[in-house]
Amino acid sequence: MITLSKRLDVIARSVPFGSNAVDVGADHGYLAIYLKKSGIAKNVIACDINELPLKNAYCNAQKYNADIQLCLSDGLEKIDPSFAETIIIAGMGAEVICGIIDRAKWLKAKDKTLILQPMNSPEYLREYLATNGFLITAEQAVEDGGKLYTVITAKYDGRVITDTLFYYKGLLSNKSDTDRLFLQKQLRRLESWLFDIENLPSKQDEYTKLEYIVRSLKQFLEEI
Ligand SMILES: C[S@@+](CC[C@H](N)C(=O)[O-])C[C@H]1O[C@@H](n2cnc3c(N)ncnc32)[C@H](O)[C@@H]1O
Repeated sequence: MITLSKRLDVIARSVPFGSNAVDVGADHGYLAIYLKKSGIAKNVIACDINELPLKNAYCNAQKYNADIQLCLSDGLEKIDPSFAETIIIAGMGAEVICGIIDRAKWLKAKDKTLILQPMNSPEYLREYLATNGFLITAEQAVEDGGKLYTVITAKYDGRVITDTLFYYKGLLSNKSDTDRLFLQKQLRRLESWLFDIENLPSKQDEYTKLEYIVRSLKQFLEEI
């Protein structure tokens, strides 16, 4: 059986059991193969915008004798909406992930589960989700190979959330060591950003907003 990295393992464990899954940007195909072989997913499509990753996924599927489908597709363009119940988009920048979701309007349905793992700017992704009617139902940070990631589960419910602090915090908990480490890393990034714009007159509105976020995040982390 294939052994997943800690990051991919958390993603796999977020997949609703027995669902039909699409792994967008499947690359090597390890996650797709694991989901099928473990029985977590009923059927799996591994899709990628590039041919080489799909060839690698094909070879790996042969090697592990995994019955998965492969699809050359930019985002979800070539995916049949009636097949896809769980949609995984991992290991890409937040803007790319939002673009893929935005182009697939059929994701705005209550029977679709999104599992997203951005490589940067999680606040950008959370804001996109929250202001486009997607509810974040679960979130968990994971440490893997000395790096920290966050894995977000979301579902469309139509409600819009306009809470700036939520965009920066999501559902990360101040009781979990890994979630705290992730938030502390975000905090350091924001503090350095604050420092950079502190004396720029044109950035004073942004400074005030960020200063509030930094203060609130610090308070949240001190709350236990
Ligand atoms: C860094 S890899 C991440 C692989 C895997 N999802 C993971 O998390 O380990 C990114 C993959 O996404 C693919 N990709 C990038 N943009 C894409 C798009 N718009 N649609 C489908 N695949 C895309 C790339 O070809 C690459 O194989």
